[in-house]
Amino acid sequence: MRLFVDTANVDEIREAASWGVVSGVTTNPSLMSKNAGRSFRDVITEIASIVDGPISAEVTSTDPEEMVREGTEIAAWHPNVVIKVPIIPNGLKAAKVLVGKGVRVNMTLCFSVNQALLAAAAGATFVSPFVGRLDDIGNKGMEVVADIVDVYERYGIPTQVIAASLRHPAHVVAAALAGSHIATIPYPVMMQMVKHPLTDNGLAAFMRDWEKFKQG
Ligand code: E4P
Repeated sequence: MRLFVDTANVDEIREAASWGVVSGVTTNPSLMSKNAGRSFRDVITEIASIVDGPISAEVTSTDPEEMVREGTEIAAWHPNVVIKVPIIPNGLKAAKVLVGKGVRVNMTLCFSVNQALLAAAAGATFVSPFVGRLDDIGNKGMEVVADIVDVYERYGIPTQVIAASLRHPAHVVAAALAGSHIATIPYPVMMQMVKHPLTDNGLAAFMRDWEKFKQG
């Protein structure tokens, strides 16, 4: 399972990328809105200069022609840009046209297998089921991820599943066990993933023992 970072904060992206484990970035309009005073293009091109992998940038129109116009313009900013399009009827129309123009699409706000089937039929490269938001309303978000992965495998569908709206490290483990191709992870969750008290205690003991050994 590939690990993407789910943020539009370039400092977070720079730090996570410096670990050498990040192979893509996902943003959305809410995450992007935290970059007050900067242009959308500026932030996306800076992210693309940090991470060499798919960078998802979302359209903000709901009109199909405008979505295509926006998506075509954003995709031209950098070859690694992927256009995020919501799974609504107009989004499917726009996705089909964008795919026909050679633009890679990540269909977002996916909450069901049916929506994932439609995303795949539109030719999306990625689909993003939102796990945490389903959990929030009492559904089992990760079961949707597992079902999408199963259905895609059964029919040889090449669309890759990005487990999104992940809220804690256990979500990342569950996404991997569900067979998700990618997990997109908020920066604080990535920090939690690396931490383990036994690692910290073990390292402190190794350092102490090494100092004693060096002193003979
Ligand atoms: C990523 O593609 C999504 O936009 C993001 O994971 C949504 O997460 P949230 O439900 O925590 O806002």
